[in-house]
Amino acid sequence: MSTTHTTVAAGADRYSLDVARIRGDFPILKQTMNGKPFVYLDNGATALKPEVVIDAEAGYYRELGANIHRGVYQFSETASALYDGTRTKVAGFIGAPDPRQVIFTKSATESVNLIAYGWALKNIVQGDEICVTEIEHHANFVPWQALAERTGATLRCIPLNPADGTLDLTGLDGLVNERTRLVAITAMSNVTGYMPPVAPVIARAKAVGALTVVDGAQWVSHSSVDVKTLDADFLVFSAHKMCGPTGVGVLYGREQLLEEMDPFLYGGDMVLRVRTDRTVFKEIPDKFEAGTPNIAGVIGFGSAIDYLLDIGMDAIHAHEQHLLSYAVEQMAAIDGVVCYGPTDLSTRGGILSFNVADAHPHDTGTILDQDGIAVRTGLHCAHPFMHALGVPGTTRASFYLYNTREEVDRLVQSVRRVREIFA
Ligand SMILES: Cc1ncc(COP(=O)(O)O)c(C=O)c1O
Repeated sequence: MSTTHTTVAAGADRYSLDVARIRGDFPILKQTMNGKPFVYLDNGATALKPEVVIDAEAGYYRELGANIHRGVYQFSETASALYDGTRTKVAGFIGAPDPRQVIFTKSATESVNLIAYGWALKNIVQGDEICVTEIEHHANFVPWQALAERTGATLRCIPLNPADGTLDLTGLDGLVNERTRLVAITAMSNVTGYMPPVAPVIARAKAVGALTVVDGAQWVSHSSVDVKTLDADFLVFSAHKMCGPTGVGVLYGREQLLEEMDPFLYGGDMVLRVRTDRTVFKEIPDKFEAGTPNIAGVIGFGSAIDYLLDIGMDAIHAHEQHLLSYAVEQMAAIDGVVCYGPTDLSTRGGILSFNVADAHPHDTGTILDQDGIAVRTGLHCAHPFMHALGVPGTTRASFYLYNTREEVDRLVQSVRRVREIFA
């Protein structure tokens, strides 16, 4: 681990980030919002970008500008090498055996849809079952619901315990059965930060011969990930939640499955030979990347991965855990504040969803905004989850490597103000 942004302190706080130094890497943190120093606690929606990522993206436009995989001239070849170099970095980041198992899409959402169109539409038929969970983000729920409707398959749902939003796995063997063809589960909830036990779900899916899709959109940005240990068939995530640019997603898949899958988009750059009567597609990963991709974004994503690795994912995770437990403790001291999610914080990433007495989450968010604090409010693209919890929405504060205890104090102070206003 590099010591550039990480200091190893004695005692319980084994990993402690040099947050002051990290903050200096993020130009947006120098801004004010509504005249107050900007506190960004909406990392669950998207992460801020360090200067190195912005530079890498702009550097492509300034110094290369060329399309990839097409030109025989130097700038095109350099751009191609940088683009494909990110693929190798992503593979290393998640422990994928081969960079060809990393497909670039435009988002985690598109990655799920690629599986739905490329594998599931071909393999799932009437009478089959697809199993999802009640805590999914819509990105890993709606495509499966739509696919079930289209194919005549049945959608089953692993329920949550309304008390704390954890998954109720007691009925797992019935929900994932010999008719199940695919199981889709998140590795970290975007509502509560809860990291459900995916291992028994994957094991059960394997036992009945079903494929597994893990939504890592929240998880991969906050934890050390190894797809070999995870042992899922597919993992999806987005660059923008891990300090990378928007417009870049990843689909990791088992090599053989990817080879068997149909392309989702057809066109240039994914073909080997086109005749008027038939087309031969390239091998993976190219057959899934039709058209000009987000070259600048992928190059910027490469820098984001370097940046995160330089700091260390374990150190980032430990820092977020520290902020989460501090925030939970502080919020618990405010009368009328209800926090959601399991009380065992070791099962959670750095996300805190809460409500303040009678205040609607949007009102809470508006008051926080006046105080210079950015949070997410509402249903968090997780309507089944919120419906099962029985709340009209929540306010969500989500932490990342550049957040501080002082920012948690600002949040708590502002929440106290909400409480006073809505007393
Ligand atoms: C858990 C989870 N899954 C999937 C997504 C979708 O990601 P994207 O919008 O980048 O496709 C999100 C986005 O917030 C998310 O939090």
